[in-house]
Amino acid sequence: MTLLPQLLRKQLTLALEEADAEIPEGFQVAISLATDARFGDYQSNSAMILAKRLKQNPRELAQAVVDAGEWDGLCETPEIAGPGFINFKVTTEILQKHTLSVFIDGHLGVPQAATPHTVIIDFSAPNVAKPMHIGHIRSTFIGDCLNRVARYLGHKVITDNHIGDWGTQFGMIIYGWKKYLNKEALAEDAIRELVRVYRQVNAEAKADEAVMQECRDELVKLQQGDAENHAIWQETVDLSLDQLRSIYDWLDISFDHYLGESFYNDRLGPVVDELIEKGLGEESDGAICIFFRDIPALAEKPAIVRKRDGGFNYATSDLATIDYRISEWNADKIWYVVGAPQQLHFQQIFAATTLRGNDVNMTHITHGSILGSNRKIMKTRDGDNVQLLDVLKEAVERAKVLVVEKNPTLSDNEQKDISEAIGLGAVKYAELSQHRMTDYIFSWDKMLSFQGNTAPYLMNAYVRTRAIFRKLDGNVTFPDTITLEAAGERNLAIKLAQFGETVPDILNDFRPNLLANYLFELAQTFHGFYEECPVLKSEGNTRASRLLLCELTSKVLKQGLDLLGIRVTDRM
Ligand code: ARG
Repeated sequence: MTLLPQLLRKQLTLALEEADAEIPEGFQVAISLATDARFGDYQSNSAMILAKRLKQNPRELAQAVVDAGEWDGLCETPEIAGPGFINFKVTTEILQKHTLSVFIDGHLGVPQAATPHTVIIDFSAPNVAKPMHIGHIRSTFIGDCLNRVARYLGHKVITDNHIGDWGTQFGMIIYGWKKYLNKEALAEDAIRELVRVYRQVNAEAKADEAVMQECRDELVKLQQGDAENHAIWQETVDLSLDQLRSIYDWLDISFDHYLGESFYNDRLGPVVDELIEKGLGEESDGAICIFFRDIPALAEKPAIVRKRDGGFNYATSDLATIDYRISEWNADKIWYVVGAPQQLHFQQIFAATTLRGNDVNMTHITHGSILGSNRKIMKTRDGDNVQLLDVLKEAVERAKVLVVEKNPTLSDNEQKDISEAIGLGAVKYAELSQHRMTDYIFSWDKMLSFQGNTAPYLMNAYVRTRAIFRKLDGNVTFPDTITLEAAGERNLAIKLAQFGETVPDILNDFRPNLLANYLFELAQTFHGFYEECPVLKSEGNTRASRLLLCELTSKVLKQGLDLLGIRVTDRM
């Protein structure tokens, strides 16, 4: 499927050639959405940019290009605005044809990636034996959305939850497990009990060096493969994973693999040996380091891959992980959705990977923080992190109040189902509608509002489309030609065409908010259309065309929300 901006770009490029404009090497003609729909559907600043380079008058060049171009059958004669923008309004025939082909296209006009990649997405990755907290929302939802989008575009995606299941905290956990564990409490809520034990030991160890030493000894025993300690560790990991999985299931998020840090244990020594052999691992103060002397930003910041005491660390484990992903999965891209504080770590392991001669494209997809209403990181009254599960439960409870109020006639099952969709959808959408780099304030009132750029608003737009078809009771056949006459119809058709333009753009800079904003605009455009254009009361081809627009809107809303990980319901 050729997108409308592609058709315009091709024609504009030809027009530039016709106008004898000297096009410099590598110059790309650009078409973007019109900033003001009154002047057209799309616009281009290319004549302006070119004129500047060629030292010509931009409006004159734009005029020459418009005069030289062949626009018949594609758009009305383009108009020149401001300092030399060219505005395009595609013809109704083209728009009608395009709308029909989007309607019958299995991907709703979203083009498939020209070169499908094998992409590993490393996201969520909580540390075990601790509950997931509100801060995990960002990596978890962004990663899941990128997974959905990349798959939809035809890439081969492998999601891997690189859980933190190996680390110094296990010394304390094992010590506490042996001394203080309450088995009943463990059976009831494993993570809560593990946290309790951990805290108790932590406090004790801080006050008493002997306890600290005992914890260290337990850790060494674990690392040396002591059977009892290993069994305790395994049980802790299993219990944690059970709880994690139930949260992910509830959120409809799935991972192909859960290869946590422990999985790479046996591979760390060989990685360091290989680094030393290649001359990349150098001894410094008894530790083995990789130096990045040629990279100014890292010149003073070597990565330690083996500590003085012989232990390995986070960087070593990530290098082993990269090796595995390349050799076992043929990764050609790895996306790490991890908060900004780990920037240095990723710069180091990316640089090390290049030094090792591995050919894989890696990106650290960072994000900002979620704040409370006081603009600080959200905490509970006791100063603890706010648990993710508590947030999700509260979201669903709050949604239920709204659902019952909005539609008291729903059955209990419907109420439950719709409240879950709205509650979980609202939390996801509050995240995904933000630019990932901005910090945002977590606000229940805002995210659960039926007005504005929210999940309930979008889900409700979908419900409206379904309500139309419910009235028809299945009595609908869609036409194979459509007519677009009213302004509302045209606006909606243009908006629908943009789904295929928006989805690929998400991956340019990993921005789910582009899709969220698009869906919000689509829902608004649909409401505008619906107010202006009666559907069921109209007749003939007008009615058929409008029904088709409603159905296509419905499909795009559903698919678009699905790419954000948000489920729609037919009623609410
Ligand atoms: N478990 C780590 C943390 O909680 C995140 C892991 C990210 N992934 C990776 N391959 N380093 O900070």
